[in-house]
Amino acid sequence: MKWLVTGGAGFIGSNFVFYMLDKYPEDQIICLDKLTYAGNLETLEGVMENPGFTFVKGDIADREAVYALFEKERPDIVVNFAAESHVDRSVVDPGIFLQTNILGTGVLMDACRKYGIQRYHQVSTDEVYGDLPLDRPDLFFTEETPIHTSSPYSASKASADLLVQAYHRTFGLPVSISRCSNNYGPYHFPEKLIPLMIANALNDKPLPVYGTGENVRDWLYVTDHCAAIDLIVRKGRVGEVYNIGGHNERTNLQVVKTILKALDKPESLIRFVTDRPGHDMRYAIDPTKIHEELGWLPETPFDEGIQKTIRWYLNNKPWWEHIISGDYQNYYEKMYGNR
Ligand code: NAD
Ligand code: TYD
Repeated sequence: MKWLVTGGAGFIGSNFVFYMLDKYPEDQIICLDKLTYAGNLETLEGVMENPGFTFVKGDIADREAVYALFEKERPDIVVNFAAESHVDRSVVDPGIFLQTNILGTGVLMDACRKYGIQRYHQVSTDEVYGDLPLDRPDLFFTEETPIHTSSPYSASKASADLLVQAYHRTFGLPVSISRCSNNYGPYHFPEKLIPLMIANALNDKPLPVYGTGENVRDWLYVTDHCAAIDLIVRKGRVGEVYNIGGHNERTNLQVVKTILKALDKPESLIRFVTDRPGHDMRYAIDPTKIHEELGWLPETPFDEGIQKTIRWYLNNKPWWEHIISGDYQNYYEKMYGNR
């Protein structure tokens, strides 16, 4: 089986590449990644020499390059992780979110139609459902919850989902979509809540908590997300949406305090800062469908996963220090500039 994994130099995509190479050593994985600020080739260093793995630098929205890659490689399955993924950046500059997240998805699917594939899988997010109120803990996102977006990021992801469903209905493209809650774990870019707080705490820098810190996120250890995608692609029904989440809701303040405690740092490092515009209050996934149809259950409870993640950041300081210093962006040129 030949897989095209887009965005594989980012957080979840790289974890998916590792998961798949380990579980299916007979499969071939081609990673297409533009290496934006969020893509880091140092993350993939350990698999670059793996005969089952090929890295290709390129943009999913570049039609010519994508068609040329399909022409050459003829993938059986496409899993699209490539995206601009940070809500705060989408507030500052929405344009690139529309370009990559919507138009890029369209180009990939056009290539799938032209060359033929067994499955196109779109990695989406629970953020397409908008948010839930804090005073209704009985409410959860199901696959039937209406799309109701808050940020340019979530609006771009929702637009892509609609396009994917349209390509299925209109052209019969064999698609599936997964909508997962917030991920955490190794190789998470230190601009997102958990890695940022770990890095700042280790450097004795203030921990910026937006608003009051009461916002709730539903955290899933990244490997559990990878296992769910693998299952959906192999066994999930074509044309369907599957929510992924493990009922691990925490307020931002709870998460930050857990990190400080684990690192033996004082809570006086917490700084309440101006809230994010349009800040979603609560995300919470109902994973009944994927559990009942495909038997998926998460393996890592939050209390275990967060300690594992903190240990990973302690043991892999050069990885995130290169990001903070900007060094990782020179890595591609240094390693591949003359190849
Ligand atoms: P990330 O920002 O860490 O990685 C994104 C990757 O995509 C990077 O390697 C980047 O270089 C690449 N990329 C960006 N634009 C590209 C383009 N035009 N062409 C090719 N590659 C491009 O993101 P992530 O957190 O790993 O998220 C991956 C996917 O999962 C995204 O689609 C995101 O919407 C979705 N998702 C993320 C979460 C989460 O908690 N992080 C939760 C649910 C869903
Ligand atoms: P983030 O990791 O950006 O994920 P998302 O917005 O996609 O859920 O943020 C998670 C939560 O943490 C969100 O409620 C915003 C909040 N947050 C802070 O309070 N401070 C920060 O510095 C960051 C990056 C996020």
